[in-house]
Amino acid sequence: MLGKRREAGRSSRLHVLGTASLKAARGHCGELLTLVKRFPNMLEDGRRQAKMLDVIDLTLEFHDHLIPETVVEHLNLHMDEGDIVGLVGESGSGKSMTALAVAGLLRRHDMKKTGQIVFQGKELLSCPRKELRALQGDEIGIVFQEPMTSLNPVYRIGWQVEESLRIHRPAMGKDERRQHAMEMLSAVELADPERIYASYPHQISGGQRQRVMIAAAMICAPKLLIADEPTTALDVTVQLQIVKLLMKLNRERKTAVLFISHDLSLVKRLCTRIVVMKDGRIVEQGSMQDIFYHPQEDYTQKLIAAIPRCVKKPTATNA
Ligand SMILES: Nc1ncnc2c1ncn2[C@@H]1O[C@H](COP(=O)(O)OP(=O)(O)OP(=O)(O)O)[C@@H](O)[C@H]1O
Ligand SMILES: [Mg+2]
Repeated sequence: MLGKRREAGRSSRLHVLGTASLKAARGHCGELLTLVKRFPNMLEDGRRQAKMLDVIDLTLEFHDHLIPETVVEHLNLHMDEGDIVGLVGESGSGKSMTALAVAGLLRRHDMKKTGQIVFQGKELLSCPRKELRALQGDEIGIVFQEPMTSLNPVYRIGWQVEESLRIHRPAMGKDERRQHAMEMLSAVELADPERIYASYPHQISGGQRQRVMIAAAMICAPKLLIADEPTTALDVTVQLQIVKLLMKLNRERKTAVLFISHDLSLVKRLCTRIVVMKDGRIVEQGSMQDIFYHPQEDYTQKLIAAIPRCVKKPTATNA
């Protein structure tokens, strides 16, 4: 009897609990619907969190003159793991400013930065300097246009390639660091890595210096490599070699590359997605095929029309 009553009590409690949970669940659904109605971008924002890099409504203004200068305006771009995105546009369009902001290198007090740069779930614009430093060189690697100014002339190449390891892998011993550096110098296809390791920057060529810069940027296996005009100072054949090297590193190490260049023919070879900028704004973005074969905007069409084409000299047979 007592057992039956206990059983009945439990089942009615379960029933009450079930009804209460159901009511609560209905309540939560209602709240969720209200939230979605109030903030229609909420679901989109939820999906955005999954991206490796998500730049949301980024605006950068210089306040170092009487009149503020907006150099990047309402910029939105995203990158997934292993993407190769090309950032193109005329000189002064804001490509480098965007790259510096993503790398967390725009820490000037006379600059106003609004929007968000979310890298692997972390917002970088509001991130404390210490946390940014932990990312730079480790999760985010950077290669600039001019390797001679990026490399320190008084230190040997080996020492400079190992720099990120000394900062981010303090427990690593000297021999292991050297081994890593030698492996990375070989990975960027430098012949005779022993000699390069022991050389000073002025003792190697421009193309070799750029490979060294890529090795230094890649030594901690970053998730994102930002390459700002990495080939501009090089001759055409070396430019192509560097692009092929970036493709190889992206394929083998799954490193995403944000490739900034004036040279649309290189961008076409390397990038799967392209973002076109003008006057600090994105004019158009899309897949390589869309941008090169079906450009929608006048500006993109003009940029593509301006790519120099190789015209064969007429010969007796094809004239
Ligand atoms: N230190 C600075 N103070 C004020 N304005 C600046 C500063 N540095 C750059 N700018 C301005 O920011 C704008 C964007 O410059 P940015 O260097 O991003 O151009 P870019 O697209 O990289 O050009 P390029 O292809 O020539 O490298 C330019 O109008 C430039 O004049
Ligand atoms: Mg630039």
